Amino acid sequence: MTEKKGTYYITTPIYYPSSNLHIGHTYCTVMADAMARFKRLAGYDVRFLTGTDEHGQKIQTLADAKGVTPQAYVDEVVDGIKKLWATMEISYDDFIRTTEDRHIKRVQNIFKKMYEKGDIYKGEYEGLYCTPCESFWTESQLVNGCCPDCGRPVQPAKEEAYFFKLSKYADRLLDLFENNPEFLQPDSRRNEMIAFVKQGLEDLCISRSTFDWGIPVPIDEKHVIYVWLDALSNYITALGFEDDRELYDKYWPANVHLVGKEIVRFHTIIWPAMLMSIEEPLPKQVLGHGWLLLGGEKVSKSKAAKGKDVVDPVVLIERYGIDALKYFLLREYTFGQDGVFTNEVMLKRMNYDLANDLGNLVSRTVSMIEKYCGGNVPASTTEDDIDRDLKAIATGAAAKVEAQMDKFAFNMALEEIWTVVRRANKYIDEKAPWILAKDEEKKAELDTVMHNLAEALRIVSILIYPFMHTTSREIRKQMGLWFADVVWEDAFTFDMMYGEQVKKGNAIFPRLDIEKELAELTALVEAKEGPKEENIPLELKPEIVYEDFDKIDLRVGTIMKAEKHPKADKLLVFQVKMGTETRQIVSGVAEHYKPEEMAGKKVIVVANLKPRALRGMESKGMILFADNGEKLEIVTTEAEDGNAVS
Ligand code: MSP
Repeated sequence: MTEKKGTYYITTPIYYPSSNLHIGHTYCTVMADAMARFKRLAGYDVRFLTGTDEHGQKIQTLADAKGVTPQAYVDEVVDGIKKLWATMEISYDDFIRTTEDRHIKRVQNIFKKMYEKGDIYKGEYEGLYCTPCESFWTESQLVNGCCPDCGRPVQPAKEEAYFFKLSKYADRLLDLFENNPEFLQPDSRRNEMIAFVKQGLEDLCISRSTFDWGIPVPIDEKHVIYVWLDALSNYITALGFEDDRELYDKYWPANVHLVGKEIVRFHTIIWPAMLMSIEEPLPKQVLGHGWLLLGGEKVSKSKAAKGKDVVDPVVLIERYGIDALKYFLLREYTFGQDGVFTNEVMLKRMNYDLANDLGNLVSRTVSMIEKYCGGNVPASTTEDDIDRDLKAIATGAAAKVEAQMDKFAFNMALEEIWTVVRRANKYIDEKAPWILAKDEEKKAELDTVMHNLAEALRIVSILIYPFMHTTSREIRKQMGLWFADVVWEDAFTFDMMYGEQVKKGNAIFPRLDIEKELAELTALVEAKEGPKEENIPLELKPEIVYEDFDKIDLRVGTIMKAEKHPKADKLLVFQVKMGTETRQIVSGVAEHYKPEEMAGKKVIVVANLKPRALRGMESKGMILFADNGEKLEIVTTEAEDGNAVS
């Protein structure tokens, strides 16, 4: 048995149960599951936590729209999420829901502790308020100056709220980033956080009183606790903090919080500061992964609905199986970076790596042992350079996989394993057992080849276990190893098999007809949404009357110059000439256009819009861009010739 190596606590973010999860959420959970399984196999006492983040305005609005209570709403979605994880055999040890009593009472205790420490005070929250959405926004969250959720105008407003003295912890946070580089990696992300803290931390508003779907503030029932304070606490409330010290002391601090890149900031600034306030140890590491993108944008609930690619994990698993999907997610993408998701890329991976490489190796090996050795794995009695090479690659892989897993480089860990798979396939071609079988005198050599292939597959079955345990078991069944436990250390050793009875089963990964699959997947999307050409009304802002429109003074202008805003990634700064006047206009279109492609374009300008400052730069008017369903497109006149102005 593998010797116990201590504890390992790994978490995923807790997901919003606003609707069913898509492939992007699955990606994070699949990585955490693979790591949890890997660490268990390596001998750690692992605790793997996932769950759902169920409070907040958005859930309340969705429930109202459906005419059900927020609790009934989340119960249904969470049920679906739990079913998905059960189907995928996600090996979590605990699933925390923020609506559970155990969480609610512990979060209230955390709030009280922070309050008693003197870190929470009552103040006034000032922000930009969207009345229909009942939400406060900051200037930088607005999209074209309007509410990012509904697109309507926002007004400055104030409300009474509780604040957490986040600013008090700025120095200790800087210390944490500077003295514990492993807390947040890569360095580029760590530097971003350092810059963020250095620029000055504001105290954090941690209560809301405009809606009530949340955990009541224990000292003032008119308020509910801000959703991030509620959500982040899950990592310790699930361990019983602080009424079940045994579990808590055993697993806290967490070894790693695995999170998407957009929520790294919450996990590396707010969460450590909260823990500092209640005087508890900090997690050892926060790791931010990249996003799966559909055509350049993050896979999301709304984007998924528009695309031609199936992103529903339930559908993909039904068609291709859990292990094929997990393999694809772990092999295709580089941890920390964004990656494009398409059904085509997925199907190709499944065909090349799984059906061709691994599937073929298993079926060829088992068939040949049945054919040439009566179905029993023979002993090896000979050895040449080719045999030695195969053995070295097979027994050397486990250490390389460990090294890659230490870096969360799942794709490289799998690549190491596939080096063995591909070497073994090449070994078959080099040794040509079908020729050896024709010569009685080559029987010992033939046995060695069969033995070595069985050994290579045994090792592969161990190495893939954390990533694809069902396939590992199927290979072990076919290899006559069904009775033996999967033991990681056995992957370092050759020559363990003799006499096992192999048995051919179904192809572990049938070959896919990619064209046919793609057509069927597209048909599935269309059947769900209706064909693309149907006349579906657009989702628009509220209707306006002619008098509203008539207030707008539209002018044709020429873009003389365009450059990036020095302080905001999303903004471009234009110099636009209209008749005798050249003026500066700032627009939030940097994600859609590069500055160098803008000069010379003839554009339509809302010339009488009240000037305002955007991130410190004056903007006088607005250049018209319109939503084409995918991105913002610039509105130009027919006279536009695209050439730079000379
Ligand atoms: N509830 C918060 C997390 C609280 S943790 C204390 C939340 N929920 S979420 O459902 O919106 O997102 C959960 C995770 O899913 C995030 O880490 C996010 O990055 C991840 N993903 C959502 N869409 C994704 C992709 N398209 N690609 C990869 N991961 C993405 O944030």
